[in-house]
Amino acid sequence: MEIPQFSDEKYDRIISDYEKKTPKSKKFYEEAKQHIAPLGVPAYMIWHRPYPFFVEKAEGSRVFDVDGNEYIDLFIDQGISFLGHQPPKLKGSIARTMDKYGIHLELCEELATKWSRKINKHFPSCQKIKIVNSGNEATELAAQIARTYTGKNKIIKFQGHHHGWNAVLSYDSLAPGSGTLFTEGIPENHWENLITLPINDIGEVEDAIKKNKNEIAAVIMEPLGVSTGAIPLRDGFQKEVRELTEQNGVLLIFDEVATGFRVAIGGAQELLGVMPDITVLGKSVGGGIPIGAVGGRDDVMAVVGVLDPRAERFGPVFPMGSFCAHPLAMAAGIAFIEELEDGDYIKNATLRAKELAKGINEVATRLKMSFSAYTTYAVVHFGLAVEQDMSNAPDMLEFNQMIRLGLLLSDPGVVALPGHVYMSGVHTPEDIHKCILAFENCLGICKE
Ligand SMILES: Cc1ncc(COP(=O)(O)O)c(C=O)c1O
Repeated sequence: MEIPQFSDEKYDRIISDYEKKTPKSKKFYEEAKQHIAPLGVPAYMIWHRPYPFFVEKAEGSRVFDVDGNEYIDLFIDQGISFLGHQPPKLKGSIARTMDKYGIHLELCEELATKWSRKINKHFPSCQKIKIVNSGNEATELAAQIARTYTGKNKIIKFQGHHHGWNAVLSYDSLAPGSGTLFTEGIPENHWENLITLPINDIGEVEDAIKKNKNEIAAVIMEPLGVSTGAIPLRDGFQKEVRELTEQNGVLLIFDEVATGFRVAIGGAQELLGVMPDITVLGKSVGGGIPIGAVGGRDDVMAVVGVLDPRAERFGPVFPMGSFCAHPLAMAAGIAFIEELEDGDYIKNATLRAKELAKGINEVATRLKMSFSAYTTYAVVHFGLAVEQDMSNAPDMLEFNQMIRLGLLLSDPGVVALPGHVYMSGVHTPEDIHKCILAFENCLGICKE
């Protein structure tokens, strides 16, 4: 399938319309560039050309920029704000915690226990939990735990699966075949202990385990595939990997940073009926405050620290961090999980996602465009049906930029990620209707 080629004239027109709509944001961006490294800012800034809009206020499913424009937010903080912006119960919980402890407390209080009990309730695979500050930290820690527990060094990951930017797992991340594209600055020999395999081929996994007999500590995967199913895994693949790892004394790590408390309250493992040895959580489980966590079987997690005050040394794995189990993350996280337990947020988000995908597909058919959308629970993926091939990457990037700018230019604008959007539990049918109109407007521009 052809990727539309945009004339300079068309591209310039779109950019100029965007500049007309967002003059203050442009000024804010010029100022920001003087002080902040290009990647030293929220992720949205790095993905958005020619410059991002700057937010004045965020509420529910909407954000308002400094130029007075309104947007329906289908980015919702990379899916973190699953209850929308300013969720009242989470804010209340944070306020009460601040009244009690102030802003941070690196002493013990009972919130971390309450939070961990909730995780354990919904993720029975997490018998014991270590709380850190981001998904990136948590995947790195999961690898350290697996290596220590098994006494082996090698880890198998899958092409394109993303586990943060750490120097342990960030090889061939996000886009299959990208290799070190996103990870300069790490010595090549660092990757000797990482085996990257194509998805969906259990024979390849079996061969790698055989060839590296007694050297593989773990297999790590995004359990629904790259970016929560953008490139889905074949039905049954996860179960086959589970059986194979079990038979060979290899641990299975599910990175549920993006799927946990989103595709189901118990994440992908609940849907698949597959129990990993180690689970990595992050994003929304801190209710919007930075968080990451590693949970696992009792015996596996026993390698993390010791509680015996007479111990001569700590460890063997000894993850430290000044902000670990931050009380505000614990308080907001508990309130977040309680909201999911009591409400229909996951069901609503999944339903809205289906409505949006259906609407986009109807528009594309009407416009006779080779554009389509599909869902993985509360996530909508969209784009051209182009094979995932890195040689197409620059064209795809340009196409995605056009789509995103086109969506922002609608009224109200729509905020999206390249190729996918996250649905929250508070998006309404009216929001979706307006988003479909925005897609129609935007695909119309691409087709001109
Ligand atoms: C599956 C997955 N793992 C790990 C991470 C890294 O998490 P964080 O951004 O909290 O470091 C992400 C972030 O997008 C993710 O989607």
